[in-house]
Amino acid sequence: MTVLRPRPLVAGNWKMNGNKHSARVLASIIQGYDAALRNKVDLLICPPATLTVTFGVVAVGSGVYIGGQDCHTKASGAHTGDISAVQLADSGATYVIVGHSERRADHGESNEVVRAKAMAARMSWLTPIVCVGETRAQREGGNALDIVREQLKDSLPETACGSDLVIAYEPVWAIGTGLIPTIAQVAEMHAAIREVLMARYGEAGAAIRILYGGSVKPDNAFDLLSVSHVDGALVGGASLEAADFLGIAEYYR
Ligand code: 13P
Repeated sequence: MTVLRPRPLVAGNWKMNGNKHSARVLASIIQGYDAALRNKVDLLICPPATLTVTFGVVAVGSGVYIGGQDCHTKASGAHTGDISAVQLADSGATYVIVGHSERRADHGESNEVVRAKAMAARMSWLTPIVCVGETRAQREGGNALDIVREQLKDSLPETACGSDLVIAYEPVWAIGTGLIPTIAQVAEMHAAIREVLMARYGEAGAAIRILYGGSVKPDNAFDLLSVSHVDGALVGGASLEAADFLGIAEYYR
């Protein structure tokens, strides 16, 4: 039986980096996203919220999607400093990252809050990218699979039809460190995530993209992206340079 793989997605998470001049980087990414690549892979850039509108304008007609890095659980109201999914959609975003480990650590976000954010995103027709991943201590303690299964159980939205949900597996210890799991560890984790998705959503679970994130660079991307059930990457540092980001997407050409 041929197993259909979902259309891959290479996403850049710019975190708290970039300024009004960074539209040049996006323009270079768009320039390199030629017809051959557009045929094979989706590209997404999630800049800081201050740049969403500008980036949305620059990306019009290019096929490159723009996303947010977080959203509130509510659509509007007295929540100083927060941004809602409705506002992100209004600013030109079509995706939003929720539950990134930096949000979970810096802002104490629980799985339940992450789930509420994912649901809020979908209410605004944004595709949530739900992030999960174990710490170094959890990996060394042999608990990585259980931890991630538990995060998924409580962070995932109740329903999904396939393309309306993306999962990103990002081992916390691999983020910004240059360390990556072995190919066997990535394969084992992504297969386990696929199992959870199939059990939860039935056939739709096969169409949900599972991204790997954590120190993805052009020189390791080809190994990581070739792993079964790795449907793309969530890229931090290497998404800030057009050549590096495109170098990762090249895998799909
Ligand atoms: P790095 O690619 O910089 O390790 O960051 C990964 C990440 O956290 C993407 O969300």
